[in-house]
Amino acid sequence: MTDKKPLHPDTKLVVGGRRKDWLRGMVNVPVSRTSTVLFDTIGEMDAAYPPKDGRLSYGRNGTWTQWSLAEALTELEPGAAGTLLFPSGSAAVAIALTSVLSPGDELLMVDSAYGPTRHFCDRDLKRLGVTTRYYDPLATADEVEAMLSDKTRAIFMESPGSLTFEVQDVPGICAMAKARGLTTLLDNTWATSIFFTAIEKGIDLSIVACTKYVSGHSDLMMGAVTAAPSHFEKLSRTGRGFGQYVSPDDAYLAARGLRTLGVRLRQHELGAVKIAHWLKDQPQVGAILHPAFAESAGHELWRRDFTGSSGLFAFALKDADEAARDSFIESLQLFGIGYSWGGFESLAVPSDTRNLRTVTNRAQSGPLVRLHIGLEDPDDLIADLARALTQSG
Ligand SMILES: Cc1ncc(COP(=O)(O)O)c(C=O)c1O
Repeated sequence: MTDKKPLHPDTKLVVGGRRKDWLRGMVNVPVSRTSTVLFDTIGEMDAAYPPKDGRLSYGRNGTWTQWSLAEALTELEPGAAGTLLFPSGSAAVAIALTSVLSPGDELLMVDSAYGPTRHFCDRDLKRLGVTTRYYDPLATADEVEAMLSDKTRAIFMESPGSLTFEVQDVPGICAMAKARGLTTLLDNTWATSIFFTAIEKGIDLSIVACTKYVSGHSDLMMGAVTAAPSHFEKLSRTGRGFGQYVSPDDAYLAARGLRTLGVRLRQHELGAVKIAHWLKDQPQVGAILHPAFAESAGHELWRRDFTGSSGLFAFALKDADEAARDSFIESLQLFGIGYSWGGFESLAVPSDTRNLRTVTNRAQSGPLVRLHIGLEDPDDLIADLARALTQSG
C-alpha cells in the first residue's frame, strides 16, 4: 500500500498477521502442528536460534499459526513491540508479573483485581519474596504516588475492575509511574485493544484473557501479553523460560474469533446498554455498575479514555437478600449460570466481593448480579429478566 494512513481497528482485525508467505494462497493461516523441525544441515539448525517469529526452530517456539495471531494482536496496539501467547489469561498475568518482579520488590495491585490475580500475588509472589500492597481503584495518580516506597517496582491496573467495574485513571497513573521508572501492567480483558489501546496510553505490559472476547465462542482458554518496546525482551525471556506455549489448534480458533471481534463487541455493547437502561427503570433494581452509566464509578474516565463498552456489567437487587438474588438468577431461562464471559451466550452469576477486597468494599444498594450479555436479541433477554424479577420479587 502506498497510502501510509494508519488503518482503522476493524481493518486491522481483518488483515493482521496474514503475511503472504504464511497464507500460501489461502485466506486463513493454516494450522501447522509440529514438535520437531527438520533441517538440511547442522549449520541451518544452528542458524534457527535464538528463536524468533518467522523462523522455524522447534515446536515450543511456534509456527506461523501462533506467530500470525500474536502479530495480529500486536498490530491492534499502536506503539507495541510484540505479543506473547499463554495457555490462559491467568498464566499471562502470572508471567507478566514474574517478568518484572524480583525478591525484595513491592507491587502495587488494584483492589478490584480479578480474584485469581490476587491469589497469585498473595500466595506465589509472596513465596518468591515480593510484597503486594493493594490500592483503591478510584485512587488518583497522586494518591497512588503517595503509596510508593523505595521498593515499589510495578503498578498493576485492571480497568474496569472485576465485579464492581470501577474505571481507573490509567494514563495518569502511567505518566506518574514512567517519571519514577516503574513498570505498569494492565488487565485489559473487558475492553480489549478495540475499546482501549493500552500501550499508547502508557502501559508497559497489556494483558488480555483471549478466553473471553478474542475467542468469543466459549471453546478455548488463552491469554496474551502485548508489550511496549522497553519490556518485550524481558517478557519473552521469562515466557520462554517458563516454557509457555499455546497449541496451533487453539491459536487458529482464537485467530478466527479475532477477525469478528469488532462487530461482536459492538453488538455485545448495544445489547448490554439497552438492557442496563431497562434495568435502571425497574423498581426492584438499585445501582447499575456499568462504565457507560453516569452513576458508575469512574464513568468520566471511561468517557475520556475508552471508545466503547462491552457486554459485561453488574446491578444491585434492591430489598433482596442473597438467597433472593440467587433464586432470581436460577429462574432466568436464557442466561446460563457459569464462570467466564465474552462468548456469544448470555450468563448471570452472583457478584460477591466479600473475600476479594482488602482496602475498599463500597456498600452497594443490594446483592449484586453480574450479567454477560451475549448475541441473543436483547428484547428476548429483557423479557426473561422481567419474568424472573416478577417471579422472585
Ligand atoms: C478480568 C479477567 N482477567 C483474567 C482472567 C483469567 O483468564 P483465564 O480464565 O483465561 O485464565 C479472567 C477470567 O475470568 C478475567 O475475568
